[in-house]
Amino acid sequence: MVTIAQANLDNPRHATGIVDCLDAYAQDPMGGGQALSLYARQNLITGLRAHPASMTFIAQKADQIVGVAVCFIGYSTFTAKPRLNLHDLIVLPEQRGRGIGRALLKAVVGHAEATDCCAVTLEVRKDNPTAQTLYRSLGFGGGSSAMEFWVKPVEIR
Ligand SMILES: CC(C)(COP(=O)(O)OP(=O)(O)OC[C@H]1O[C@@H](n2cnc3c(N)ncnc32)[C@H](O)[C@@H]1OP(=O)(O)O)[C@@H](O)C(=O)NCCC(=O)NCCS
Repeated sequence: MVTIAQANLDNPRHATGIVDCLDAYAQDPMGGGQALSLYARQNLITGLRAHPASMTFIAQKADQIVGVAVCFIGYSTFTAKPRLNLHDLIVLPEQRGRGIGRALLKAVVGHAEATDCCAVTLEVRKDNPTAQTLYRSLGFGGGSSAMEFWVKPVEIR
């Protein structure tokens, strides 16, 4: 049986499972195909723990963390309400197609509803029809926004 819960980042089993899932995501073609750096593996949980607006949901099967949804609470000035960003959604490859991704996404949306958020936002690759189908089935839509996602990488000094 799979259960969905908010992660306890002080729990070493949760912490290891989250890092392993995010590493699997990074190595997935939909995550860019490159394993997490040693720095990211070693500092990810400390950083999430220190981040005042992060929240992570985990999917557990027996003692294994099989999926993760990492979210950040933002704020919409135009609606004067919080807005939840789903930053990472990953289910381990061998556990896919069993409803775990949908269950994690429902937990994220449920949390947004329970905390009076105005919306849940996310980014999805144009070549990720699996995730797009899942998102659409729960009411997400996009693709026609006048906005583009821009990035300026910050060099490590
Ligand atoms: C996207 C992802 C999280 C889905 O997790 P999952 O546990 O396999 O998904 P579910 O079993 O809950 O399926 C949810 C829906 O996704 C879609 N889906 C799942 N597998 C699919 C496949 N192989 N082909 C097409 N659609 C698929 C279906 O719409 C499915 O709903 P249905 O079962 O009612 O038909 C998972 O594929 C994954 O981790 N992918 C790599 C990382 C990624 O792309 N993350 C999203 C980044 S935006």
